[in-house]
Amino acid sequence: MRVYLDNAATTPLDPEVFEAMKPFMLEDFGNPSSTHAHGRKVRAAIESGRKKVAELLNCTPGEIIFTSGGTEADNALIIGAIKTYKIKNAISSPIEHHAVEHTLHMLEKNGDINLHFVRLDEKGHVDLGHLESLLKEFPNALVSLMHANNEIGNLLDIEKVGDLCQKHHAYFHSDTVQTMGHYRHDLKKLKIHGLTAAAHKFHGPKGIGFMYINKDRKIQPLIHGGAQERNLRGGTENTYGIIGLAKALEICYREMEEHESKINSIKKYMIERLAASVSGISFHGDSGNLNKSLYTVLNVSFPESDENEMMLFNLDLQGISASGGSACSSGATTGSHVLNALYPGSKRGAVRFSFSKFTTKEEIDFAVDKVAELCKVTV
Ligand SMILES: Cc1ncc(COP(=O)(O)O)c(C=O)c1O
Repeated sequence: MRVYLDNAATTPLDPEVFEAMKPFMLEDFGNPSSTHAHGRKVRAAIESGRKKVAELLNCTPGEIIFTSGGTEADNALIIGAIKTYKIKNAISSPIEHHAVEHTLHMLEKNGDINLHFVRLDEKGHVDLGHLESLLKEFPNALVSLMHANNEIGNLLDIEKVGDLCQKHHAYFHSDTVQTMGHYRHDLKKLKIHGLTAAAHKFHGPKGIGFMYINKDRKIQPLIHGGAQERNLRGGTENTYGIIGLAKALEICYREMEEHESKINSIKKYMIERLAASVSGISFHGDSGNLNKSLYTVLNVSFPESDENEMMLFNLDLQGISASGGSACSSGATTGSHVLNALYPGSKRGAVRFSFSKFTTKEEIDFAVDKVAELCKVTV
């Protein structure tokens, strides 16, 4: 048996998505920029995909720009906003995805911005009081804070952060890569200027994502070239990727509540079974809190031991694909900047299990039994 519990890294393609993409890989291969019939057919499909995404997110089609994925979208939004609005200060957190963190560090190193980190509490929650004091000190800043943390599943109150950003005239970008397709985003209500997403996190294809850019706060492009994507992203469109992304998001919205409750019960089951079979475990960040965290992620903290340090590696050998990495970089695990920021110096083992609508209780049983065997201390 081989069990896949790494859905925060990527998800399997939904067969219904594949069926929607297939014609655009085979017969409908035209370049959407071509004005002849081959091109026009594909252009129409792309635009209806864009319209679908916009309808689901309650924004206008012109505000949806397709990219090669989450990393490009984060880069484009952050760099574009800073250049366009001559922003001098950026406010972020030390537990952002590298697509955000490394981009901000690059801009800081180049002397384009001063970078300020908001304080986090011991569980990794953003201190909103501190955020407001930074916003007061540095008005007109760029704020980049992720909606859900990909490692520890913490959720940000983006409504509140949006209100604070509006009050202090900040440009608000949120990396919503882990929440797109899992939660509903209403962009008429949210006070947000840019958000970013990647289709492969919600059963769409890899190599395609999008950014929402609020029509009143447009930005310069990152990739220059043709006039594609309303002059905001040059390059021939990933046509079947866009078709797949739109279909995948449509399915997510169609079945969201059903999937959320199914995945939540899978997560609850794993928490209970782990607690009953392995001693000394806890959960990193909010991930063990069913009502408060991203329901697809459970980050397990194992007591310090040589075996637990090798847990991820041994789970792989036993047929379980998960991911993680403890705070310290040693053995088979590589250090996690998120865990390092929250639990500096901790030598506890860490494994992130992440679930999808395809995860079954039998797979959880298999994984927990292997974890218990590897921990050797069964209660
Ligand atoms: C929170 C977050 N942001 C950005 C990315 C990058 O997305 P992509 O792999 O599509 O470039 C990921 C993927 O792991 C992610 O989890």
